[in-house]
Amino acid sequence: MNSREERTEGTGSGPVIGVFDSGFGGLTVLKALLWRMPGARFVFLGDTARLPYGSKSRRTIARYAAESARFLVNQQGAEFLVIACNTASALALDAIQEAVPIPVLGVIEPGAAAAALASKTKDVLVIATEATVASHAYAAACRTRGLRAVEKACPLLVPLVEEGWIEHPVTAEVARIYLNEVLEEAAAARQSPDTLVLGCTHYPLLRGLLEREILELSTSTAIRVIDSAEATAEAASQLVAEVSKAGAGSRTELSASGSPGNPSIHCFATDSVEKFERLGSRFLGLQVGKVELVDLGG
Ligand code: DGL
Repeated sequence: MNSREERTEGTGSGPVIGVFDSGFGGLTVLKALLWRMPGARFVFLGDTARLPYGSKSRRTIARYAAESARFLVNQQGAEFLVIACNTASALALDAIQEAVPIPVLGVIEPGAAAAALASKTKDVLVIATEATVASHAYAAACRTRGLRAVEKACPLLVPLVEEGWIEHPVTAEVARIYLNEVLEEAAAARQSPDTLVLGCTHYPLLRGLLEREILELSTSTAIRVIDSAEATAEAASQLVAEVSKAGAGSRTELSASGSPGNPSIHCFATDSVEKFERLGSRFLGLQVGKVELVDLGG
């Protein structure tokens, strides 16, 4: 095991950053955060008992997400919250902000900002869960940046990732069907997309596969794949630095960037801790180690 694969309980003395996802896909965001905030202490909660959020109603998602946020703040002392779940960010950001008295950042705005930087044609494709697509949160965030977005729900991709079928012919076939459909929808709307936004925290695991498939399918324009994890981590580190500066002299200190070295990570899940420990390392790129079971109620 090399040093990047080892999971260690670091001794970070920086701010406590709560990271929340409906499952363990949000570990892709945590991975990006580790590189930008090596001195921070991370507390991650995956609401695995109630996953998937992507097929549920706004009301239910808001309740689950607010309960999860309260756990991270009230019981784990989080000082900043990163909602590393596209569905919760799209449908419950307001509810979470109301539930906790600390700065909260979602993934939609950073994702749309990254798409705006990447796109030259100003036409983008967004693939996400059913709930995220139905909310049109990405389309709205893109519109404010002068982009036109065609959104497509890809509900089969999350279970395939959860199954660990990352490089699998079935996943490739499913991805091809969805990507073909979204490209057809864009063509029907006379759009020339050059950017594909991965609007779900599970999809970065399929990035290689999706890049290959979209390259084969898009005959006219080369399509660049954007995942919001990097953009969110960058926005989060800026937010933490701003708040820390404003409260200079407080206990919150932050190293701006560097190597994660000996990261301080504590993971909680509401169910399936063994599966989380087994598959979570793929998302994080490090061993997640012991995951604690937590009961947030029904
Ligand atoms: N974390 C969710 C997202 O990013 C995907 C999994 C789910 O449906 O709960 O949208």
